[in-house]
Amino acid sequence: MSGQVRPITLVGTPVLHRPCRPVEDFDAALKDLVDDMLASMYEAEGVGLAANQIGVDLRVFVYDCPDEDGERRRGAVVNPVLELLALENRRLDDGDEGCLSVPGPHARLARPDRATVHGYDVRGTAITVEGTGLLARCLQHETDHLEGRLYIDRLSARARKKVLKEYESLQAEAEPDALPG
Ligand code: NI
Repeated sequence: MSGQVRPITLVGTPVLHRPCRPVEDFDAALKDLVDDMLASMYEAEGVGLAANQIGVDLRVFVYDCPDEDGERRRGAVVNPVLELLALENRRLDDGDEGCLSVPGPHARLARPDRATVHGYDVRGTAITVEGTGLLARCLQHETDHLEGRLYIDRLSARARKKVLKEYESLQAEAEPDALPG
């Protein structure tokens, strides 16, 4: 893998809280971006990463995540559009969720247990990714990122506050180690 590990943007960084721009050029720079995103995701031990999580305002995410059968699925989606089942056909999965941009805490968040994303690969070929299990959650979480939405924005006010409090106390503890040298 040729990508460069880049720092992960944290909650509060403006690029995480507004919709990203669509990709218009399927060029070498896009391929480099995806390589950097994969390298950054693996370094951070995440199962998915959106471009704005490394500070880039473009609609791209990468994932390496098991589905409900435990099959590992990996890829990149450019300009994703999420498709969920009709409301009456949805089943919710009340699993745990966390985010590399809010490192530390997790919270239960009910989401549809299957999801489909339509988009493009790095060469501009149309692709469709169908996800079940953790991959369904991941596809929804990452497309949310590109809309400027974090999973904590889907929690109750109380649960959101609890997650942010835990995150902030961990950040305060970690600070001395973050100094150079
Ligand atoms: Ni996230």
